[in-house]
Amino acid sequence: EQATVLADVTVTITAGPTREQLDPVRFISNHSSGKMGYALANAALMLGAKVNLISGPVSISAPQGVNVINVESALQMRDAALEYAPTSDIFIGCAAVADYRAAQVSEQKIKKQGDDMAITMVKNPDIIAEVAALTKNRPYTVGFAAETQNVEQYAKNKLKNKNLDMICANDVSREGLGFNADHNALTLFWQDASLELPVADKQALAMSVLMEITKQLDH
Ligand code: C5P
Repeated sequence: EQATVLADVTVTITAGPTREQLDPVRFISNHSSGKMGYALANAALMLGAKVNLISGPVSISAPQGVNVINVESALQMRDAALEYAPTSDIFIGCAAVADYRAAQVSEQKIKKQGDDMAITMVKNPDIIAEVAALTKNRPYTVGFAAETQNVEQYAKNKLKNKNLDMICANDVSREGLGFNADHNALTLFWQDASLELPVADKQALAMSVLMEITKQLDH
């Protein structure tokens, strides 16, 4: 039965963009819709898992039964991820985490100044790499890589550098696929194997991704 494939399994997923505050009225973010992460949460729930969904600000909602943890910034997402990862069997990083945040968040609205202005940014932590580096209670850790070129090489580098168990790569330069779209195509990479998942709607792809992860856990 489908609903028991992930019975007694806890899956934690990050989804959506992060929002990096500049001052009380402004932020830096990206166009991630959260659709792929929410589709994964939905699929994991259908397979009988206990699901934690750590979500940046999105305009979609999760199904009943998913434990949604709403966050805004990368730092908040990291805190939630490190709280939930050690009690998870599977961790999937699907969020489009901002690479940088403002070095200082201005307490007051930044006033208009001269013709140029500069904001100093500092690097955000790599959330999934921190999860994959856990030495105790490390979950099976799965990342996503959105690339516009050299998809295989960049994805494999991320798999290795972040110490992931698996990475789902997509070519976001392909029209109508990836960011914000309803359809996607993924290539899954492990250290020593790969699998092509052709174009499908994100819900069907999410189910395929989870079934592949399940096979790995059974090994
Ligand atoms: O390095 P890049 O952002 O392309 O890597 C993508 C993968 O790493 C995704 O799984 C994403 O959720 C995760 N990531 C993260 N924390 C960051 C940057 C990326 O968890 N600061």
